[in-house]
Amino acid sequence: MSTTQEKIEKLREMKKRLWMGGGAKRIEKQHESGKLSARERVACLLDENTFQEMYLFSQHRCTGFGLKDKEQAADGVITGLGCVEGRQVFLASQDFTILGGSVGEVHADKICQMMDMSLKCGAPFVMINDSGGARIQEGIMSLSGYGRIFYRNVLLSGVVPQISIIAGPCAGGAAYSPAMADFIIMTKKAGRMFITGPQVIKEVTGQEISSEELGGFYAQTAYSGVVHFVADDDEHAMEICKKLLSFLPSNNMEDPPDFSEGELLVSENPVLNKIIPDNPRQAYNMKEVILNIVDNEDFLEVQEEFAPNALVGFGRINGRSIGIVANQPMVMAGVLDINSSDKIARFVRFCNAFNIPLITFVDVPGFMPGIQQEHGGIIRHGAKMLFAYSAATVPKISVIVRKAYGGAYLAMCGKDLGCDRVVAWPTGEIAVMGAEGAVSIIYKDEIEKSSNPKKTREEFISEYQIQFANPFIGAGRNLIDDVIEPQDTRRYLSLALESLRTKRELRPQKKHGLIPL
Ligand code: HXC
Repeated sequence: MSTTQEKIEKLREMKKRLWMGGGAKRIEKQHESGKLSARERVACLLDENTFQEMYLFSQHRCTGFGLKDKEQAADGVITGLGCVEGRQVFLASQDFTILGGSVGEVHADKICQMMDMSLKCGAPFVMINDSGGARIQEGIMSLSGYGRIFYRNVLLSGVVPQISIIAGPCAGGAAYSPAMADFIIMTKKAGRMFITGPQVIKEVTGQEISSEELGGFYAQTAYSGVVHFVADDDEHAMEICKKLLSFLPSNNMEDPPDFSEGELLVSENPVLNKIIPDNPRQAYNMKEVILNIVDNEDFLEVQEEFAPNALVGFGRINGRSIGIVANQPMVMAGVLDINSSDKIARFVRFCNAFNIPLITFVDVPGFMPGIQQEHGGIIRHGAKMLFAYSAATVPKISVIVRKAYGGAYLAMCGKDLGCDRVVAWPTGEIAVMGAEGAVSIIYKDEIEKSSNPKKTREEFISEYQIQFANPFIGAGRNLIDDVIEPQDTRRYLSLALESLRTKRELRPQKKHGLIPL
């Protein structure tokens, strides 16, 4: 019979061995490829001494392929809970040193248990991916494991924030779990996501491409928009994750963390009076507008590389989180196209689910004309914005900075979509379409019949501009609450957000609406 002390010693040894995962050599290999180990990643994300591991002693049940009775530490995934800046999160970190971090029955079960706890406790779920995908030796049980994870991704969706960090391979159907999370952070060097890898693509289509070109950070941000944040390395990924969490509530029943310091900061910002160029055709950087309005010029941009004609991201006003949506006149004049519509609609829905007020800065010439856009379904994609904004019941405030034309005026949260406050700068222009296009349609005959069509056209354009290129018609019809100097915007938003803190908006009961997917 062993003594108590001997039992304790044995436990210590067991834990020490299991903590080493696949062993020093494999951890060294992990480091050589620019990656931290699964445990180092957890330590990097969580506040010191807050990690409580669950299921360290888990073992797989596979008996074939030489795996019978072979210990695979923690079955290749570290699971547990801890704190990020004092707030609880549940997490799973795949250990590539154990069977390539592949997902078997028990591995999946551990992830599912964390997701269940996260749902019960109302705390975010963070998944760190570094895996060869479905564990080949476990066949259907592995696929079933993925199915159980996907099912929980959906249960958690809109209840607790879900963040996926892609710190290694994430291939095949495995990529669908991060895809159903709210945000994906990918590391530059090691992160790869694809449904079918380069080999299969070559066999099936004959196309040749490297794994980085196919599913590395550039492809999955700039081309596909699947990834929301790019990190230089694992440490940077954890920093982004912490920062992102700081803007979010722990669950849909809470408000985001409040960093306000009592009194409202309502000072003017004269810089804003000088940002909009005199020439309405000239671009300016909308990020400058945003940075001059949010607290401490702190704006966490989401999907920076994807559809850069639109900007979405998080900031704070007086210490309280806001979701910011804006057009970017520096890129394609800030026009709305398929990708920017998808980007905005998704972001609006996230903010609405997690009680984050939406501030929309509008400078949009319209929806993008073009055969590709029409055949690509701009009607369906643009409708997502109208749907998402109309469905959102969080406080909604729009600032018409300059152009607000046609359907895009409405799609950027016009008053009629249930926007709580619409305010315009004196540079605002609101009309069905721009002067050139409008004059060509409504004065077609007059221009054709004129002895000097060019001059007549110019006269009509100038008349149209005087009539419509201002915010006062909208203000006169109560579609714009006020016209303010740009420098007063932060003050205006502070007071409006404060007044909307108690906003309650009830909608008819239904199973769910049918957003045009
Ligand atoms: C079991 C696996 C594995 C897997 C890797 N390993 N993937 N074991 N099942 N899916 C093991 C390897 O055998 C090896 O074990 C160790 O992990 C490290 O793998 P290496 O190949 O040596 O590493 P590396 O060269 O870095 O290559 C990593 C890799 C490659 C690119 C991920 O291993 C790979 O292509 N794996 C298969 C990926 C894949 O096709 N998975 C299935 C996707 S489909 P030893 O003992 O030799 O060190 C899928 C379906 C999900 O996931 C469906 C859900 C609905």
